[in-house]
Amino acid sequence: MRPSFLLVLTIVLASSCQLPNVELTGSADGLIPLPAFLEVDSTAAGLQVPSATWNWQVETTWNDQSAFWKTWLPGQPDDHGAHLVVEKIEGVPAEGYQLRIAATDGVWIGASDEIGVFRALTTLRQLLPVEMELSSEGQRFILPALEIQDAPRFEHRGLLLDCCRHFMEPAFVMHMIDQLALHKMNVLHWHVTEDQGWRVPIEAYPNLEKVGAWREEKTGEQHGGVYTKDEIRAIVSYASDRCVTVIPEIELPGHSRAAIAAYPWLSCTGDTLPVPNDWGVFKDIYCAGQDTTFRFLETVLDEVMELFPSEYIHIGGDEAPKVRWDACPKCQRRMEEEGLHDSHELQSWFISKVGSYLEAHSRKLIGWDEILEGGLPDGATVQSWRGMEGGLAAVAAGRNAIMSPTSHCYFDYPLSATDLEEVYAFEPVPENLEGSGRILGGECNMWTEHAPQDIVESKIFPRMLAMAEVLWSPKVLRDFEGFQSRKLLHDQRLIAWGVDSGLESDPLNATWDKGSDVFGVEVQVEAALDRIEGDVIFTPLSSHLTPSHHELGSRIFVKGEGMLEAVLTRDGRPLRDAVLLPVAGHIGVHSDASIGHSLSPYYPGGGEGGLADGRLGSIDFRDGCWQATQSENMSITLALPQKIQLDSLSMQCYRYQDAWIFLPQTLVFGWSVDGVKWEESRIDLHTYSGSHVLSPTDAQDIVRIACAVDASARFIRMEAVNPGACPDWHDAASSPSWMFLDELVVHGQ
Ligand code: ACM
Ligand code: ZN
Repeated sequence: MRPSFLLVLTIVLASSCQLPNVELTGSADGLIPLPAFLEVDSTAAGLQVPSATWNWQVETTWNDQSAFWKTWLPGQPDDHGAHLVVEKIEGVPAEGYQLRIAATDGVWIGASDEIGVFRALTTLRQLLPVEMELSSEGQRFILPALEIQDAPRFEHRGLLLDCCRHFMEPAFVMHMIDQLALHKMNVLHWHVTEDQGWRVPIEAYPNLEKVGAWREEKTGEQHGGVYTKDEIRAIVSYASDRCVTVIPEIELPGHSRAAIAAYPWLSCTGDTLPVPNDWGVFKDIYCAGQDTTFRFLETVLDEVMELFPSEYIHIGGDEAPKVRWDACPKCQRRMEEEGLHDSHELQSWFISKVGSYLEAHSRKLIGWDEILEGGLPDGATVQSWRGMEGGLAAVAAGRNAIMSPTSHCYFDYPLSATDLEEVYAFEPVPENLEGSGRILGGECNMWTEHAPQDIVESKIFPRMLAMAEVLWSPKVLRDFEGFQSRKLLHDQRLIAWGVDSGLESDPLNATWDKGSDVFGVEVQVEAALDRIEGDVIFTPLSSHLTPSHHELGSRIFVKGEGMLEAVLTRDGRPLRDAVLLPVAGHIGVHSDASIGHSLSPYYPGGGEGGLADGRLGSIDFRDGCWQATQSENMSITLALPQKIQLDSLSMQCYRYQDAWIFLPQTLVFGWSVDGVKWEESRIDLHTYSGSHVLSPTDAQDIVRIACAVDASARFIRMEAVNPGACPDWHDAASSPSWMFLDELVVHGQ
């Protein structure tokens, strides 16, 4: 990234004529990521620094201007003080450094490249008293005597920031770059083109910013924005000064609706379409049959390459439905001409063509793991997101990979799906993998469908701290407890840096028991994190019953349905959102349950008994309550604790067709006294109360399917018939749909 240098640089820490009495203490106890080797000599005297005012006295032949890292430490110049010597030495790995602090010698840094110096100063910055981040007014401080030898485990340590679903101000992007640098991350994967917004101005195609950068929200408001070329250059240069490379992602052939809105001739149909204001995967993508598509893309890439000097350009490649290509005469002709057997091979041909263009301009291509389908283009690096398999297939094919599986790296997911500990447990390299050196590193992905700028940072932090350590520090040093105690100190630094950090995991633990009355459920809601306080309010569904207030930790018996709402503070500060737990106390809770479908590893929803545990799935379909299948029927049988007179049976079904989640085709409720002879009620959801299972709707909602029953029963069963493939009108037409259920509610007396 930077030319190497030859220098001995002296930086002088200043003294002050009038020292205040307070002495601040620097410490190595809060370092994140943990250095590869750290030895604190607690028997030796630390380095006394007479004042916290920094002075830089460069004694070097090195060109002053190239010492870009000089301003990275807090403070102002002064004339006197302790020494910081920065020396070029051989044999230190790329980005690595050595750092020594001793009472007599001051601070010494050795590195073989300037990035190593920058990383060392980043460590030194974390060793300084946190007060120095807030003020450089002279206060004496002491640094511990220590030795550090450090180098990154992986060369690619990234954060994907999706500035398309929600636009982010340049100042915010720069703030995130600061945070990457402060945690030794080195890649900003900047997602700047998407269905819902195009963010890079392209002079040859002005409609991209005039039309493609804006969408009309469902509220009627306009959302959007585009970065000017000057802003982009400033961001790239700001990042470069902080040893962060900005890799732009220009999505193709899918996720291209904003470009198609700007220039309808880019698609197979040529239809005029708006920039969409909903989320999902859209079937209108760049037409692969037209040469004009490639002229467009090459011109776009020309201007992009001019703005972004990165070695890599990310071209997306994910989630590109092939229905349009399959029906397009131009795409079909292209397949014939090129001898391609199917539309997956056409996608591979498309990506290869773009890859060759990048290669001819001395750039390399990264694509999401779908680029493996139909044949991996030469020289491509695969970013694995649908699990690790794509990355492993790339390695097996002798290619490089970047790991960012949804299981650990998706920071748009709620903490209930991916908490700090899970991120910390991420391992980018499976054991005994041949060719493990081809795994360049990993990324955390911050998609922003549901995260406007003002909540983005609270989703990235603190999880990015765990990712920084996973990608930088040696695997053998991984220790979550140690990390947590360092994090506690580091949190003070995040506050000083103005980081809006979220929680490390769900703040509450709720246990759901049968309780003493079989017709209800007993819930205990406790703080799962330190320093959490608050109240729990239960609001019954029926409006004639009054809400009740409970202390955190108390047991709450619920008969019937309603909402538990916990209003919480941490360290006296209110948490952003109340925690909502929909609850149903019913006779089916914790009865003997057996299911007849396989549990999805992604949506196991509480396992075998999860469909009858009293805890209802919420509007967040990743809340851990929902059980889901793809192309498979679901069924559950309950043996109730006693025979009852049934009033009703019902099932909650999730619907979010943009995310391929459909209502079941049919629901069959059954009841029986002896488990042998059954009665049944079959509900065809095509006709159920206007909830048309396969018709277009952009609703994201929970649909309760109920049937009144007047019979006694001891056994209950429910079968949900899967809705089949996404229908023709859907953007993912012919792909297998999902079905999400929770819970089977049994009311009776
Ligand atoms: C992705 O999350 N669609 C790469
Ligand atoms: Zn076409």
